[in-house]
Amino acid sequence: MGTFGSFMKIGIVTGGGDCPGLNAVIRAVAKAATKRGWETLGVIGGYQGLLAPQKYRLLDYKALSGLLVRGGTILGTANRGPFSAKTGHGETRQLPRELFEDTMRGMEQLGIEALVSVGGDGSLTIAHQMHEFGIPIVGVPKTIDNDLAATTMTFGFDSAVACATDALDRLHTTAESHNRVLVLEVMGRYAGWIAIYAGVAGGADVILIPEIPFRYESICAAVTEREKMGKHFTLVIAAEGAKPEGGNFVTSGAQQQNREARLGGIGAAVAEEIEKRTGKETRVVVLGHLQRGGSPTNMDRALCTLFGAEAVELIADKKFGRMVAHTGVTVDSVPLADAIGHLRTVPLDGAFVQAARALGISLGD
Ligand code: F6P
Repeated sequence: MGTFGSFMKIGIVTGGGDCPGLNAVIRAVAKAATKRGWETLGVIGGYQGLLAPQKYRLLDYKALSGLLVRGGTILGTANRGPFSAKTGHGETRQLPRELFEDTMRGMEQLGIEALVSVGGDGSLTIAHQMHEFGIPIVGVPKTIDNDLAATTMTFGFDSAVACATDALDRLHTTAESHNRVLVLEVMGRYAGWIAIYAGVAGGADVILIPEIPFRYESICAAVTEREKMGKHFTLVIAAEGAKPEGGNFVTSGAQQQNREARLGGIGAAVAEEIEKRTGKETRVVVLGHLQRGGSPTNMDRALCTLFGAEAVELIADKKFGRMVAHTGVTVDSVPLADAIGHLRTVPLDGAFVQAARALGISLGD
């Protein structure tokens, strides 16, 4: 790798599932780098863009207009292919050394001296493996799931919660008009953050999260209890990773090699069972990729900007192998190794679970 003088050329890569705020991070990194007199190359299509024939674009000031509010990623992203480090239900795969040799060669050909990897558990696991190989890399925590250890908040999460809360608000009025039960299935993989934040913010009556296996009797008791109180409608929010006691995750589509399992379908299962057991007309809405689309919220725009500036600072200080992190108070950094390997799930004794129980919201247990 090149030596560090006052000028540097850095690369930025977005990997894994997209989410609101990726462009805002790209903008912040490129702006902060430009301010230092550096040059930023945006790698196209995830890490694969570093392999020959390399795909990239120059991120000069002109390229950055409008990025703060724009959803998706102008660089494209990938959660499959040779750089896929997660399989099944979150198991980790060590990527071959030759792949990293090719990556290093690609970076050298482009003159990239350090890389910013913007990603979730999968992409940052790859970033950590790259760091161990010797590639100068720093991470920025992205995922709507909010399940990365070592940061109290990932960017994209707040936007996803806003979308799910808006959906609950809309379902509220139609459920009430029709005296129905409405089940909203949201994303989040094996963590219930989106479900519990949106459930509390949107006034759900039942919140089902992977951390608390549910019982159908308990969900139906909540529905009939509300009937007795004269509330003839019920709102249920179910995380895609929620499952009944002793049951398995519900997945959709066949399991593909070297890819993570695709969760989905628990909402329909819950709706069917509620209708069967209570006789209440029940409908299901799967929010799906709506949660990942559109403009980032104010909170995410700010977080992305702080994260991007801190990532450039880490590179300037040659603090490689670290991920920028939100500590709850400020933005700092932690070793990449601390961020991967185990997921940050909703604590059972945490404020959200406690507040939900205090208000009489059913958690299905
Ligand atoms: O990790 C983000 C996420 O949106 C999960 O919440 C969801 O399970 C998964 O990605 C969906 O992935 P895909 O876009 O490949 O269907």
